[in-house]
Amino acid sequence: GKILVLHGPNLNLLGTREPDVYGAATLAHINQSLQQQAQIAGHQLEFLQSNAEFQLIERIHAAKNEQIEFILFNPAAFTHTSVALRDALLAVSIPFIEVHLSNVFQREKFRHHSYFSDVAVGVICGLGAQGYNLALQAAIEHIQQKH
Ligand code: DQA
Repeated sequence: GKILVLHGPNLNLLGTREPDVYGAATLAHINQSLQQQAQIAGHQLEFLQSNAEFQLIERIHAAKNEQIEFILFNPAAFTHTSVALRDALLAVSIPFIEVHLSNVFQREKFRHHSYFSDVAVGVICGLGAQGYNLALQAAIEHIQQKH
């Protein structure tokens, strides 16, 4: 099965961006670790990081025609702003897990609301890079249950 890993704005700067909040791992490191985990389980991963809402929306639309079975999504700041990305996920009705590196509930009030959590299969936050690996494990089990 194919799984899409989507990273929102500013996550290309991981490793140097507020490392006390987001950790030392780069995005390349996170993706590499996910790739390895997926390979062992016999699943195929696709990756996109974008700073543009438009590109993320278009990627979600394309996922439908590519038989993507599941999406791991860190919408980053779009978590708190984007009805358009929420609607895109609802439009394709591909199940997804919302991932955040930081514990958004320990942070500013404006980070406590997400446009995605109520329509996600699940949400992982505050576990750093490991959160992605845990989300992938859950995604794989979710796919296997369906088949
Ligand atoms: C984030 C949390 C968001 O509030 C923030 O805008 C990000 C990253 C996280 O992974 O902790 O860019 O999604």
